[in-house]
Amino acid sequence: MPDKTSRSSVLVIHGPNLNMLGRREPEIYGHQSLDEINAGLLAQGEKLGLEVTTFQSNHEGEIVERIQLAVGSCDGILINPAAYTHTSIAIRDALSLLDIPVVEIHLSNIYKREPFRHKSLIADIAAARISGFGAQGYLLGLEGLVTLLD
Ligand code: DQA
Repeated sequence: MPDKTSRSSVLVIHGPNLNMLGRREPEIYGHQSLDEINAGLLAQGEKLGLEVTTFQSNHEGEIVERIQLAVGSCDGILINPAAYTHTSIAIRDALSLLDIPVVEIHLSNIYKREPFRHKSLIADIAAARISGFGAQGYLLGLEGLVTLLD
C-alpha cells in the first residue's frame, strides 16, 4: 500500500438531488445510489493511490464553502454540480479560486436533454468533462484526473 503522506487528495462534490440517486428518474440517472457510487470511488481511489473524499449538498452556499476548504488542501476535484451547473456563478467563482484540475461530471448527456441543460457555467474552467456514461463517468473521471495531477 502506498505511503499515506504521499497520496494525492481528490475531493468529489455532488450537487443537489444527487442524494436521491437510485430513486430519482432512474431511466436518466441509473439505479446506483450515491452511497454505492461513493463506495466505488473510494475503492478506485485505493487502487490509484489516491485519498478520495466525497461531499454532497443540496445547498449552493455549502458547496461554495466546501470548495473554499479545498484551497491549499486538495490536489484535484471531481464535481457534478447537478442543477447548479446551469445557474451558479457562485460555484464557478469558488472553483476559480483553485489552481488544481477540476473535472466536470454528469451522469446524463446534458446535450441530449432540454436546452436549459446545454449551458454549463463551469465548462470553460474545467480541465475536462465527462457526460453521459452514468455512474461509470465518475470512475472514468477519477482515472482521467490522475493523469492531470502533478
Ligand atoms: C446532472 C444534469 C443536470 O442537468 C441535472 O440538473 C442534475 C444531474 C447529471 O449528472 O446528468 O441534477 O448534472
